[in-house]
Amino acid sequence: GAAVEVDISSLKEGEKLTVEWRGKPVWIIKRTSEQLKDLPSLDGELADPKSERHPDEFTPPYARNENRSIKPEVLVVVGICTHLGCSPTDKFQAGPQPSLPSDWKGGFLCPCHGSTFDMAGRVFKNKPAPDNLQVPPHMYLSDTKILIG
Ligand code: FES
Repeated sequence: GAAVEVDISSLKEGEKLTVEWRGKPVWIIKRTSEQLKDLPSLDGELADPKSERHPDEFTPPYARNENRSIKPEVLVVVGICTHLGCSPTDKFQAGPQPSLPSDWKGGFLCPCHGSTFDMAGRVFKNKPAPDNLQVPPHMYLSDTKILIG
């Protein structure tokens, strides 16, 4: 079917790879150890830190953990805002954002209505997006090969 195989052997720490799955962009991001360390400290600022809202739709059982991932460092999420479907941009991709402090620990900002997400795709509180970014169904075929779908 529509499953997509991705080789992540050349993905370096701090880098992001975008692949298309069922017409949607899927981001594969190798997070830095600093980014991973920041995740638990953000729980209090997030709307659904443990991904308990609609887990069947947005967070498969193997990603219901602090990092929302199978391998701690590798995040696999659908790059589509859960509000009305815009594609969030990377931190400060569009230049400094007046609404965000320069030391903001988050990862992504939706340009449409300002929802923000951390480096695990978890939505911050009081934002229009109702859910965390979707972790698509996926598995590792080998240490460096992921099957999405
Ligand atoms: Fe992302 Fe509305 S579509 S905040």
